[in-house]
Amino acid sequence: MTVRTLQAGPFEGQKPGTSGLRKKTRVFMEPGYLECFVQAIFNSIGGAKDKTFVVGGDGRYFNREAVQIILKIAAANGAAKVIVGQDGLLSTPAVSNLIRQRNADGGLVLSASHNPGGIDEDFGLKYNVSNGGPAPEAITEEIFSQTKTIDSYRIFEASDLDLSTLGMKGIGSTTVEIVDPVADYAALMEQLFDFAKVRDLFESGFTMRFDAMHAVTGPYAKAILEGELGAAAGTVLNAQPSVDFGGGHPDPNPVWAKQLVDLVMSADAPDFAAASDGDGDRNMILGKGIYVTPSDSLAVLAANAHLAPGYAKGLAGVARSMPTSTAADRVAEALGIDHYETPTGWKFFGNLLDAGMVTLCGEESAGTGSNHVREKDGLWAVLLWLNILAETRQSVKDIMASHWKRFGRNYYSRHDYEAIPAEDANALMDGLRGKLPDLPGKSFSGLTISSCDDFAYLDPVDGSRSLRQGIRILFEGGARAVFRLSGTGTVGATLRIYLENLETEESKLFRDTQDALASVIQAAREISELERLGRSEPNVIT
Ligand code: G6P
Ligand code: ZN
Repeated sequence: MTVRTLQAGPFEGQKPGTSGLRKKTRVFMEPGYLECFVQAIFNSIGGAKDKTFVVGGDGRYFNREAVQIILKIAAANGAAKVIVGQDGLLSTPAVSNLIRQRNADGGLVLSASHNPGGIDEDFGLKYNVSNGGPAPEAITEEIFSQTKTIDSYRIFEASDLDLSTLGMKGIGSTTVEIVDPVADYAALMEQLFDFAKVRDLFESGFTMRFDAMHAVTGPYAKAILEGELGAAAGTVLNAQPSVDFGGGHPDPNPVWAKQLVDLVMSADAPDFAAASDGDGDRNMILGKGIYVTPSDSLAVLAANAHLAPGYAKGLAGVARSMPTSTAADRVAEALGIDHYETPTGWKFFGNLLDAGMVTLCGEESAGTGSNHVREKDGLWAVLLWLNILAETRQSVKDIMASHWKRFGRNYYSRHDYEAIPAEDANALMDGLRGKLPDLPGKSFSGLTISSCDDFAYLDPVDGSRSLRQGIRILFEGGARAVFRLSGTGTVGATLRIYLENLETEESKLFRDTQDALASVIQAAREISELERLGRSEPNVIT
Protein backbone atom coordinates (compact mmCIF):
# COMPACT_ATOMS: atom_id res chain seq x y z
CA MET A 1 0.00 0.00 0.00
CA THR A 2 1.50 3.29 -1.06
CA VAL A 3 0.51 6.90 -1.31
CA ARG A 4 0.53 8.28 -4.82
CA THR A 5 0.23 11.80 -6.10
CA LEU A 6 -1.71 11.82 -9.35
CA GLN A 7 -1.89 14.70 -11.78
CA ALA A 8 -5.43 15.92 -12.50
CA GLY A 9 -7.48 19.09 -12.68
CA PRO A 10 -8.34 21.80 -12.38
CA PHE A 11 -11.97 21.16 -13.35
CA GLU A 12 -14.18 24.08 -14.20
CA GLY A 13 -17.33 24.91 -12.28
CA GLN A 14 -16.61 23.17 -8.96
CA LYS A 15 -18.40 25.93 -7.11
CA PRO A 16 -20.43 24.73 -4.14
CA GLY A 17 -24.01 26.02 -4.37
CA THR A 18 -26.73 26.39 -1.73
CA SER A 19 -25.91 22.93 -0.47
CA GLY A 20 -22.56 21.65 -1.71
CA LEU A 21 -21.43 20.75 -5.21
CA ARG A 22 -24.13 19.16 -7.36
CA LYS A 23 -23.55 17.84 -10.84
CA LYS A 24 -24.69 15.09 -13.10
CA THR A 25 -23.44 11.75 -11.79
CA ARG A 26 -21.39 11.15 -14.95
CA VAL A 27 -19.54 14.42 -14.32
CA PHE A 28 -18.60 13.28 -10.82
CA MET A 29 -17.48 9.96 -12.31
CA GLU A 30 -15.03 11.60 -14.73
CA PRO A 31 -11.52 10.49 -13.79
CA GLY A 32 -10.09 12.89 -11.21
CA TYR A 33 -13.25 15.02 -10.83
CA LEU A 34 -14.40 13.83 -7.40
CA GLU A 35 -10.79 13.27 -6.36
CA CYS A 36 -9.76 16.87 -7.07
CA PHE A 37 -12.82 18.26 -5.31
CA VAL A 38 -12.11 16.19 -2.20
CA GLN A 39 -8.44 17.21 -2.27
CA ALA A 40 -9.54 20.85 -2.65
CA ILE A 41 -11.73 20.49 0.45
CA PHE A 42 -8.80 19.16 2.45
CA ASN A 43 -6.48 21.85 1.07
CA SER A 44 -8.97 24.56 2.01
CA ILE A 45 -9.06 23.52 5.67
CA GLY A 46 -5.31 23.42 6.09
CA GLY A 47 -4.98 19.74 5.25
CA ALA A 48 -6.53 16.57 6.65
CA LYS A 49 -3.54 15.56 8.75
CA ASP A 50 -4.45 14.17 12.19
CA LYS A 51 -8.09 15.16 11.69
CA THR A 52 -11.26 13.14 12.11
CA PHE A 53 -14.04 13.12 9.53
CA VAL A 54 -17.48 11.58 9.19
CA VAL A 55 -18.41 10.22 5.75
CA GLY A 56 -21.69 8.87 4.44
CA GLY A 57 -24.37 9.42 1.87
CA ASP A 58 -27.93 8.78 0.82
CA GLY A 59 -27.22 5.61 -1.12
CA ARG A 60 -27.64 7.04 -4.60
CA TYR A 61 -25.74 5.74 -7.62
CA PHE A 62 -21.94 6.18 -7.16
CA ASN A 63 -22.32 6.55 -3.34
CA ARG A 64 -20.35 3.40 -2.56
CA GLU A 65 -17.56 4.11 -5.03
CA ALA A 66 -17.28 7.72 -3.87
CA VAL A 67 -16.95 6.64 -0.21
CA GLN A 68 -14.05 4.34 -1.14
CA ILE A 69 -12.31 7.16 -3.03
CA ILE A 70 -12.79 9.62 -0.16
CA LEU A 71 -11.38 7.13 2.36
CA LYS A 72 -8.26 6.61 0.26
CA ILE A 73 -7.72 10.35 -0.24
CA ALA A 74 -8.29 11.04 3.48
CA ALA A 75 -5.74 8.33 4.34
CA ALA A 76 -3.21 9.68 1.85
CA ASN A 77 -3.62 13.12 3.41
CA GLY A 78 -2.89 11.76 6.87
CA ALA A 79 -6.37 11.83 8.46
CA ALA A 80 -6.36 10.26 11.94
CA LYS A 81 -9.79 8.72 11.63
CA VAL A 82 -12.80 8.45 9.37
CA ILE A 83 -16.18 7.41 10.76
CA VAL A 84 -18.33 5.84 8.03
CA GLY A 85 -21.93 4.67 8.07
CA GLN A 86 -22.42 0.96 7.35
CA ASP A 87 -22.66 0.38 3.58
CA GLY A 88 -21.66 4.03 3.14
CA LEU A 89 -25.09 5.20 4.32
CA LEU A 90 -25.75 8.13 6.65
CA SER A 91 -28.54 10.66 6.55
CA THR A 92 -27.51 14.32 6.56
CA PRO A 93 -28.82 14.92 10.11
CA ALA A 94 -27.08 11.73 11.28
CA VAL A 95 -23.77 13.03 9.86
CA SER A 96 -24.34 16.30 11.68
CA ASN A 97 -25.02 14.43 14.90
CA LEU A 98 -21.96 12.18 14.57
CA ILE A 99 -19.68 15.14 13.89
CA ARG A 100 -20.90 16.72 17.11
CA GLN A 101 -20.95 13.58 19.26
CA ARG A 102 -17.50 12.47 18.19
CA ASN A 103 -15.92 15.93 18.09
CA ALA A 104 -14.97 15.35 14.49
CA ASP A 105 -13.34 18.12 12.47
CA GLY A 106 -15.81 17.84 9.63
CA GLY A 107 -17.92 15.60 7.47
CA LEU A 108 -18.44 14.77 3.82
CA VAL A 109 -22.03 14.07 2.82
CA LEU A 110 -22.63 12.34 -0.49
CA SER A 111 -26.00 13.42 -1.75
CA ALA A 112 -27.84 15.63 -4.17
CA SER A 113 -30.61 15.74 -1.59
CA HIS A 114 -34.03 15.61 -3.24
CA ASN A 115 -32.71 15.49 -6.81
CA PRO A 116 -33.15 12.16 -8.61
CA GLY A 117 -30.32 9.63 -8.55
CA GLY A 118 -28.84 7.28 -11.13
CA ILE A 119 -26.03 7.31 -13.66
CA ASP A 120 -27.92 9.86 -15.77
CA GLU A 121 -29.20 11.87 -12.83
CA ASP A 122 -27.58 13.87 -10.05
CA PHE A 123 -24.82 13.39 -7.52
CA GLY A 124 -23.45 15.78 -4.93
CA LEU A 125 -20.88 16.32 -2.23
CA LYS A 126 -21.26 18.70 0.69
CA TYR A 127 -18.67 19.57 3.30
CA ASN A 128 -19.81 20.15 6.90
CA VAL A 129 -17.69 21.78 9.57
CA SER A 130 -16.98 20.93 13.20
CA ASN A 131 -20.27 22.31 14.58
CA GLY A 132 -21.99 19.73 12.36
CA GLY A 133 -23.42 22.30 9.96
CA PRO A 134 -22.82 23.05 6.29
CA ALA A 135 -19.58 24.93 5.63
CA PRO A 136 -20.14 28.69 5.84
CA GLU A 137 -19.55 30.83 2.78
CA ALA A 138 -15.98 31.78 3.71
CA ILE A 139 -15.05 28.07 3.53
CA THR A 140 -17.04 27.22 0.40
CA GLU A 141 -15.37 30.21 -1.30
CA GLU A 142 -11.97 28.89 -0.24
CA ILE A 143 -12.86 25.41 -1.54
CA PHE A 144 -13.90 26.94 -4.85
CA SER A 145 -10.69 28.92 -5.11
CA GLN A 146 -8.65 25.76 -4.40
CA THR A 147 -10.51 23.92 -7.18
CA LYS A 148 -9.39 26.57 -9.66
CA THR A 149 -5.69 25.91 -9.22
CA ILE A 150 -5.52 22.28 -8.16
CA ASP A 151 -3.35 20.08 -10.37
CA SER A 152 -3.00 16.88 -8.38
CA TYR A 153 -4.44 14.82 -5.57
CA ARG A 154 -2.99 12.34 -3.11
CA ILE A 155 -4.50 8.88 -2.87
CA PHE A 156 -3.68 5.66 -1.05
CA GLU A 157 -3.31 2.74 -3.39
CA ALA A 158 -5.23 0.07 -1.54
CA SER A 159 -8.02 -2.37 -2.14
CA ASP A 160 -11.56 -1.33 -1.23
CA LEU A 161 -12.61 -1.66 2.41
CA ASP A 162 -15.53 -3.87 3.36
CA LEU A 163 -18.15 -1.32 4.47
CA SER A 164 -20.80 -3.90 5.24
CA THR A 165 -19.51 -5.02 8.63
CA LEU A 166 -19.29 -2.81 11.72
CA GLY A 167 -16.05 -2.15 13.56
CA MET A 168 -12.58 -0.67 13.38
CA LYS A 169 -10.59 -1.05 10.18
CA GLY A 170 -7.83 0.94 8.64
CA ILE A 171 -6.07 2.27 5.57
CA GLY A 172 -2.39 2.90 6.27
CA SER A 173 -2.31 4.67 9.62
CA THR A 174 -5.86 6.07 9.26
CA THR A 175 -8.48 4.34 11.39
CA VAL A 176 -11.76 3.70 9.62
CA GLU A 177 -14.68 3.01 11.96
CA ILE A 178 -17.81 1.56 10.37
CA VAL A 179 -20.83 2.51 12.50
CA ASP A 180 -24.50 1.60 12.55
CA PRO A 181 -26.02 4.62 10.76
CA VAL A 182 -29.14 4.66 12.94
CA ALA A 183 -28.03 3.94 16.54
CA ASP A 184 -26.59 7.31 17.68
CA TYR A 185 -29.33 9.23 15.89
CA ALA A 186 -32.11 7.17 17.47
CA ALA A 187 -30.55 7.69 20.91
CA LEU A 188 -30.62 11.45 20.37
CA MET A 189 -34.29 11.36 19.34
CA GLU A 190 -35.14 9.40 22.46
CA GLN A 191 -33.63 12.17 24.58
CA LEU A 192 -35.71 14.86 22.90
CA PHE A 193 -39.12 13.23 22.70
CA ASP A 194 -41.50 11.36 24.96
CA PHE A 195 -41.29 7.96 23.30
CA ALA A 196 -43.57 6.36 25.92
CA LYS A 197 -46.34 8.81 25.15
CA VAL A 198 -46.00 8.28 21.41
CA ARG A 199 -46.09 4.51 21.99
CA ASP A 200 -49.37 4.99 23.87
CA LEU A 201 -50.71 6.97 20.93
CA PHE A 202 -49.92 4.13 18.51
CA GLU A 203 -51.33 1.60 20.97
CA SER A 204 -54.60 3.51 21.01
CA GLY A 205 -55.03 2.70 17.31
CA PHE A 206 -53.52 5.86 15.82
CA THR A 207 -52.44 5.18 12.24
CA MET A 208 -49.57 6.63 10.24
CA ARG A 209 -47.75 6.29 6.92
CA PHE A 210 -44.20 7.47 6.41
CA ASP A 211 -42.92 7.52 2.83
CA ALA A 212 -39.13 7.08 2.81
CA MET A 213 -39.21 7.50 -0.98
CA HIS A 214 -36.66 4.67 -1.50
CA ALA A 215 -34.08 6.91 0.13
CA VAL A 216 -31.93 7.01 3.24
CA THR A 217 -34.59 7.51 5.93
CA GLY A 218 -36.02 4.03 5.32
CA PRO A 219 -33.76 2.29 7.87
CA TYR A 220 -34.10 5.17 10.37
CA ALA A 221 -37.91 5.28 10.14
CA LYS A 222 -38.25 1.50 10.36
CA ALA A 223 -36.06 1.33 13.46
CA ILE A 224 -37.63 4.28 15.26
CA LEU A 225 -41.30 4.30 14.17
CA GLU A 226 -41.98 0.61 13.75
CA GLY A 227 -39.24 -0.63 16.08
CA GLU A 228 -39.13 1.67 19.10
CA LEU A 229 -42.50 3.43 18.90
CA GLY A 230 -44.63 0.45 18.03
CA ALA A 231 -46.21 1.78 14.83
CA ALA A 232 -47.80 -1.05 12.84
CA ALA A 233 -45.60 -3.00 10.41
CA GLY A 234 -46.06 -1.40 7.00
CA THR A 235 -46.23 2.13 8.43
CA VAL A 236 -42.99 2.92 6.58
CA LEU A 237 -43.43 2.83 2.81
CA ASN A 238 -40.60 2.50 0.26
CA ALA A 239 -38.21 1.75 3.10
CA GLN A 240 -35.40 0.14 1.10
CA PRO A 241 -32.83 2.71 -0.12
CA SER A 242 -32.17 2.25 -3.84
CA VAL A 243 -29.54 3.80 -6.12
CA ASP A 244 -32.15 5.57 -8.24
CA PHE A 245 -34.85 6.04 -5.57
CA GLY A 246 -37.15 3.71 -7.44
CA GLY A 247 -36.89 5.96 -10.50
CA GLY A 248 -38.57 8.91 -8.74
CA HIS A 249 -37.63 12.26 -7.28
CA PRO A 250 -37.02 11.75 -3.56
CA ASP A 251 -38.60 15.13 -2.84
CA PRO A 252 -41.32 15.21 -0.20
CA ASN A 253 -43.76 17.66 -1.72
CA PRO A 254 -47.28 17.36 -3.14
CA VAL A 255 -45.89 16.81 -6.65
CA TRP A 256 -43.32 14.09 -6.04
CA ALA A 257 -45.09 12.44 -3.12
CA LYS A 258 -48.46 12.65 -4.81
CA GLN A 259 -49.44 9.10 -3.86
CA LEU A 260 -49.15 9.91 -0.20
CA VAL A 261 -51.12 13.14 -0.62
CA ASP A 262 -53.81 11.24 -2.53
CA LEU A 263 -53.92 8.69 0.29
CA VAL A 264 -54.55 11.29 3.02
CA MET A 265 -57.27 12.87 0.90
CA SER A 266 -59.00 9.48 0.39
CA ALA A 267 -61.41 7.47 2.52
CA ASP A 268 -58.49 5.25 3.67
CA ALA A 269 -56.54 8.17 5.08
CA PRO A 270 -54.34 7.41 8.09
CA ASP A 271 -54.41 9.86 11.03
CA PHE A 272 -50.98 11.21 10.16
CA ALA A 273 -48.58 10.93 7.23
CA ALA A 274 -45.14 12.25 6.44
CA ALA A 275 -42.31 11.86 3.95
CA SER A 276 -38.63 12.68 3.80
CA ASP A 277 -36.15 13.31 1.00
CA GLY A 278 -33.06 11.60 -0.44
CA ASP A 279 -30.69 12.44 2.42
CA GLY A 280 -33.29 12.70 5.17
CA ASP A 281 -33.18 16.39 6.00
CA ARG A 282 -36.49 17.47 4.46
CA ASN A 283 -39.99 16.62 5.57
CA MET A 284 -43.59 16.87 4.49
CA ILE A 285 -46.43 16.74 7.03
CA LEU A 286 -49.95 15.55 6.25
CA GLY A 287 -53.04 14.71 8.27
CA LYS A 288 -56.39 13.20 7.41
CA GLY A 289 -57.61 15.45 4.60
CA ILE A 290 -54.90 18.09 5.00
CA TYR A 291 -51.46 19.11 3.69
CA VAL A 292 -49.48 21.29 6.08
CA THR A 293 -47.18 23.75 4.31
CA PRO A 294 -43.59 23.77 5.59
CA SER A 295 -44.04 27.39 6.67
CA ASP A 296 -47.14 26.49 8.69
CA SER A 297 -45.41 23.44 10.12
CA LEU A 298 -42.60 25.64 11.47
CA ALA A 299 -45.17 27.95 13.05
CA VAL A 300 -47.09 25.07 14.66
CA LEU A 301 -43.90 23.47 15.95
CA ALA A 302 -42.78 26.80 17.40
CA ALA A 303 -46.13 27.25 19.14
CA ASN A 304 -46.17 23.72 20.57
CA ALA A 305 -42.55 22.58 20.96
CA HIS A 306 -42.73 23.00 24.75
CA LEU A 307 -44.95 19.89 24.80
CA ALA A 308 -41.87 17.75 24.02
CA PRO A 309 -39.36 17.09 26.84
CA GLY A 310 -36.38 18.40 24.84
CA TYR A 311 -38.02 21.81 24.49
CA ALA A 312 -40.02 21.97 27.74
CA LYS A 313 -38.08 25.01 28.90
CA GLY A 314 -39.30 27.01 25.91
CA LEU A 315 -37.49 28.38 22.88
CA ALA A 316 -34.71 30.95 22.77
CA GLY A 317 -35.92 32.24 19.41
CA VAL A 318 -37.07 31.16 15.96
CA ALA A 319 -35.42 31.71 12.58
CA ARG A 320 -36.80 31.30 9.08
CA SER A 321 -35.36 31.88 5.65
CA MET A 322 -36.60 35.03 3.94
CA PRO A 323 -38.90 33.31 1.39
CA THR A 324 -40.53 31.24 4.18
CA SER A 325 -43.91 32.68 5.21
CA THR A 326 -44.06 35.02 8.15
CA ALA A 327 -46.37 32.67 10.10
CA ALA A 328 -43.60 31.77 12.56
CA ASP A 329 -42.87 35.45 13.24
CA ARG A 330 -46.30 35.98 14.70
CA VAL A 331 -45.93 32.92 16.93
CA ALA A 332 -42.60 34.28 18.16
CA GLU A 333 -44.20 37.66 18.85
CA ALA A 334 -46.99 36.00 20.83
CA LEU A 335 -44.45 33.94 22.81
CA GLY A 336 -42.32 37.03 23.40
CA ILE A 337 -39.22 35.47 21.83
CA ASP A 338 -36.91 36.77 19.09
CA HIS A 339 -37.33 35.90 15.43
CA TYR A 340 -34.82 36.17 12.62
CA GLU A 341 -35.00 36.27 8.83
CA THR A 342 -32.02 34.76 7.01
CA PRO A 343 -31.13 34.07 3.38
CA THR A 344 -32.11 30.72 1.87
CA GLY A 345 -29.78 27.90 2.95
CA TRP A 346 -29.45 26.07 6.24
CA LYS A 347 -25.90 27.31 6.69
CA PHE A 348 -27.21 30.75 7.68
CA PHE A 349 -28.85 29.29 10.81
CA GLY A 350 -25.57 27.89 12.13
CA ASN A 351 -24.30 31.04 13.85
CA LEU A 352 -27.69 31.79 15.43
CA LEU A 353 -27.90 28.24 16.78
CA ASP A 354 -24.29 28.20 17.98
CA ALA A 355 -24.81 31.53 19.76
CA GLY A 356 -27.93 30.18 21.50
CA MET A 357 -30.08 32.89 19.91
CA VAL A 358 -32.59 30.49 18.36
CA THR A 359 -33.83 26.97 19.10
CA LEU A 360 -36.01 26.24 16.05
CA CYS A 361 -35.36 27.02 12.40
CA GLY A 362 -37.28 26.33 9.24
CA GLU A 363 -37.51 26.93 5.53
CA GLU A 364 -40.28 26.85 2.97
CA SER A 365 -38.23 24.23 1.10
CA ALA A 366 -39.47 21.60 3.56
CA GLY A 367 -36.68 21.92 6.08
CA THR A 368 -37.28 22.19 9.81
CA GLY A 369 -34.82 21.62 12.60
CA SER A 370 -33.51 22.71 15.96
CA ASN A 371 -30.35 23.12 17.99
CA HIS A 372 -30.06 19.32 18.42
CA VAL A 373 -27.91 19.18 15.24
CA ARG A 374 -26.79 21.78 12.70
CA GLU A 375 -28.78 20.49 9.74
CA LYS A 376 -32.45 20.38 9.08
CA ASP A 377 -33.89 17.06 10.12
CA GLY A 378 -36.85 15.35 8.47
CA LEU A 379 -37.49 12.57 10.94
CA TRP A 380 -36.99 14.92 13.89
CA ALA A 381 -39.83 17.12 12.56
CA VAL A 382 -42.04 14.05 12.20
CA LEU A 383 -41.25 12.95 15.76
CA LEU A 384 -41.93 16.42 17.17
CA TRP A 385 -45.30 16.39 15.40
CA LEU A 386 -45.99 12.93 16.81
CA ASN A 387 -45.08 14.11 20.31
CA ILE A 388 -47.47 17.06 19.94
CA LEU A 389 -50.23 14.81 18.59
CA ALA A 390 -49.65 12.38 21.46
CA GLU A 391 -49.93 15.19 24.03
CA THR A 392 -52.93 16.98 22.58
CA ARG A 393 -54.76 13.98 21.10
CA GLN A 394 -56.11 16.38 18.47
CA SER A 395 -56.21 15.68 14.75
CA VAL A 396 -53.76 17.50 12.45
CA LYS A 397 -56.73 19.32 10.94
CA ASP A 398 -57.92 20.56 14.33
CA ILE A 399 -54.43 21.65 15.31
CA MET A 400 -54.20 23.71 12.13
CA ALA A 401 -57.68 25.18 12.57
CA SER A 402 -56.99 26.35 16.11
CA HIS A 403 -53.56 27.65 15.08
CA TRP A 404 -55.04 29.78 12.29
CA LYS A 405 -57.81 31.06 14.54
CA ARG A 406 -55.25 32.16 17.08
CA PHE A 407 -52.54 33.57 14.81
CA GLY A 408 -54.23 34.14 11.44
CA ARG A 409 -53.41 32.14 8.33
CA ASN A 410 -50.61 32.90 5.90
CA TYR A 411 -51.87 31.43 2.66
CA TYR A 412 -48.67 30.38 0.96
CA SER A 413 -47.51 28.78 -2.26
CA ARG A 414 -44.32 28.53 -4.32
CA HIS A 415 -44.43 28.51 -8.12
CA ASP A 416 -41.33 27.11 -9.85
CA TYR A 417 -40.34 27.63 -13.46
CA GLU A 418 -37.67 25.02 -14.12
CA ALA A 419 -34.92 24.61 -16.72
CA ILE A 420 -35.21 28.07 -18.20
CA PRO A 421 -32.20 29.43 -20.10
CA ALA A 422 -29.87 31.17 -17.63
CA GLU A 423 -29.85 34.38 -19.72
CA ASP A 424 -33.64 34.64 -19.60
CA ALA A 425 -33.72 34.06 -15.85
CA ASN A 426 -30.99 36.63 -15.23
CA ALA A 427 -32.70 39.13 -17.53
CA LEU A 428 -35.94 38.76 -15.56
CA MET A 429 -34.19 39.24 -12.23
CA ASP A 430 -32.12 42.18 -13.51
CA GLY A 431 -35.27 43.73 -14.95
CA LEU A 432 -36.96 43.46 -11.56
CA ARG A 433 -33.94 44.88 -9.76
CA GLY A 434 -33.91 47.85 -12.10
CA LYS A 435 -37.57 48.57 -11.35
CA LEU A 436 -37.31 48.42 -7.56
CA PRO A 437 -36.84 52.14 -6.89
CA ASP A 438 -40.04 53.02 -8.77
CA LEU A 439 -42.34 50.28 -7.47
CA PRO A 440 -43.48 51.55 -4.04
CA GLY A 441 -46.94 53.12 -4.30
CA LYS A 442 -47.78 51.39 -7.60
CA SER A 443 -50.71 48.98 -7.81
CA PHE A 444 -50.98 45.68 -9.63
CA SER A 445 -54.06 43.51 -9.73
CA GLY A 446 -55.66 45.60 -7.00
CA LEU A 447 -52.66 45.34 -4.65
CA THR A 448 -50.53 48.35 -3.76
CA ILE A 449 -46.80 47.88 -3.18
CA SER A 450 -45.74 49.23 0.19
CA SER A 451 -42.03 48.42 -0.06
CA CYS A 452 -39.56 46.25 -1.95
CA ASP A 453 -35.88 45.39 -1.94
CA ASP A 454 -33.19 42.93 -2.96
CA PHE A 455 -32.78 41.08 0.35
CA ALA A 456 -29.44 41.57 2.08
CA TYR A 457 -28.49 39.88 5.34
CA LEU A 458 -26.21 41.09 8.04
CA ASP A 459 -25.28 38.16 10.26
CA PRO A 460 -25.78 39.41 13.83
CA VAL A 461 -23.15 37.00 15.15
CA ASP A 462 -20.13 37.42 12.87
CA GLY A 463 -21.08 40.62 11.06
CA SER A 464 -20.79 39.03 7.60
CA ARG A 465 -23.01 40.36 4.85
CA SER A 466 -24.80 38.42 2.11
CA LEU A 467 -26.18 40.51 -0.72
CA ARG A 468 -28.70 39.86 -3.53
CA GLN A 469 -30.55 37.06 -1.76
CA GLY A 470 -33.91 37.47 -3.52
CA ILE A 471 -36.31 40.24 -4.45
CA ARG A 472 -39.04 40.97 -1.93
CA ILE A 473 -42.18 42.83 -2.82
CA LEU A 474 -44.47 43.68 0.07
CA PHE A 475 -48.04 44.81 -0.49
CA GLU A 476 -50.29 46.82 1.76
CA GLY A 477 -52.35 44.46 3.95
CA GLY A 478 -49.65 41.81 4.42
CA ALA A 479 -49.38 40.09 1.03
CA ARG A 480 -45.90 39.37 -0.33
CA ALA A 481 -44.21 38.11 -3.47
CA VAL A 482 -40.57 37.00 -3.52
CA PHE A 483 -38.49 36.22 -6.61
CA ARG A 484 -35.34 34.13 -6.41
CA LEU A 485 -33.23 31.88 -8.60
CA SER A 486 -32.64 28.42 -7.20
CA GLY A 487 -29.13 27.61 -6.04
CA THR A 488 -29.54 23.84 -6.27
CA GLY A 489 -30.57 23.09 -9.86
CA THR A 490 -28.32 21.31 -12.32
CA VAL A 491 -30.08 22.18 -15.62
CA GLY A 492 -30.45 25.82 -16.72
CA ALA A 493 -32.01 28.10 -14.14
CA THR A 494 -35.06 27.66 -11.92
CA LEU A 495 -37.09 30.73 -11.07
CA ARG A 496 -38.96 30.47 -7.80
CA ILE A 497 -41.83 32.81 -7.03
CA TYR A 498 -42.97 32.66 -3.41
CA LEU A 499 -46.48 33.97 -2.81
CA GLU A 500 -48.11 34.80 0.47
CA ASN A 501 -51.20 36.49 1.83
CA LEU A 502 -52.16 36.94 5.46
CA GLU A 503 -55.79 36.30 6.41
CA THR A 504 -57.09 37.01 9.88
CA GLU A 505 -60.85 37.01 9.25
CA GLU A 506 -62.23 33.82 10.75
CA SER A 507 -64.76 33.19 7.98
CA LYS A 508 -61.98 33.17 5.37
CA LEU A 509 -59.50 30.79 7.02
CA PHE A 510 -60.42 27.67 5.07
CA ARG A 511 -60.21 28.69 1.43
CA ASP A 512 -58.38 26.99 -1.41
CA THR A 513 -54.78 28.27 -1.34
CA GLN A 514 -54.42 29.15 -5.03
CA ASP A 515 -57.77 30.99 -4.95
CA ALA A 516 -56.81 32.88 -1.84
CA LEU A 517 -53.57 33.91 -3.55
CA ALA A 518 -55.03 34.73 -6.98
CA SER A 519 -54.43 38.47 -6.86
CA VAL A 520 -50.85 38.14 -5.52
CA ILE A 521 -50.12 35.59 -8.26
CA GLN A 522 -51.45 37.96 -10.90
CA ALA A 523 -49.57 40.93 -9.45
CA ALA A 524 -46.31 38.92 -9.40
CA ARG A 525 -46.75 37.98 -13.05
CA GLU A 526 -47.34 41.58 -14.06
CA ILE A 527 -44.51 43.09 -12.02
CA SER A 528 -41.94 40.60 -13.33
CA GLU A 529 -43.27 40.59 -16.91
CA LEU A 530 -43.30 36.85 -16.57
CA GLU A 531 -44.82 36.35 -20.01
CA ARG A 532 -41.35 37.01 -21.41
CA LEU A 533 -40.33 33.52 -20.29
CA GLY A 534 -42.87 32.07 -22.68
CA ARG A 535 -44.24 29.73 -20.01
CA SER A 536 -47.95 29.64 -19.34
CA GLU A 537 -47.80 27.59 -16.12
CA PRO A 538 -45.23 26.79 -13.43
CA ASN A 539 -43.70 23.27 -13.52
CA VAL A 540 -44.13 22.77 -9.82
CA ILE A 541 -46.55 24.32 -7.36
CA THR A 542 -45.97 23.59 -3.72
C1 G6P B 1 -31.17 22.99 0.06
C2 G6P B 1 -30.70 23.65 1.31
C3 G6P B 1 -31.82 24.43 1.95
C4 G6P B 1 -32.41 25.39 0.97
C5 G6P B 1 -32.78 24.73 -0.31
C6 G6P B 1 -33.16 25.80 -1.31
O1 G6P B 1 -32.14 22.05 0.36
O2 G6P B 1 -30.22 22.70 2.22
O3 G6P B 1 -31.36 25.07 3.09
O4 G6P B 1 -33.55 26.01 1.47
O5 G6P B 1 -31.69 23.97 -0.80
O6 G6P B 1 -32.91 25.41 -2.57
P1 G6P B 1 -33.00 26.37 -3.81
O7 G6P B 1 -33.10 25.41 -4.94
O8 G6P B 1 -34.26 27.18 -3.62
O9 G6P B 1 -31.76 27.22 -3.81
ZN1 ZN C 1 -32.04 16.98 1.53
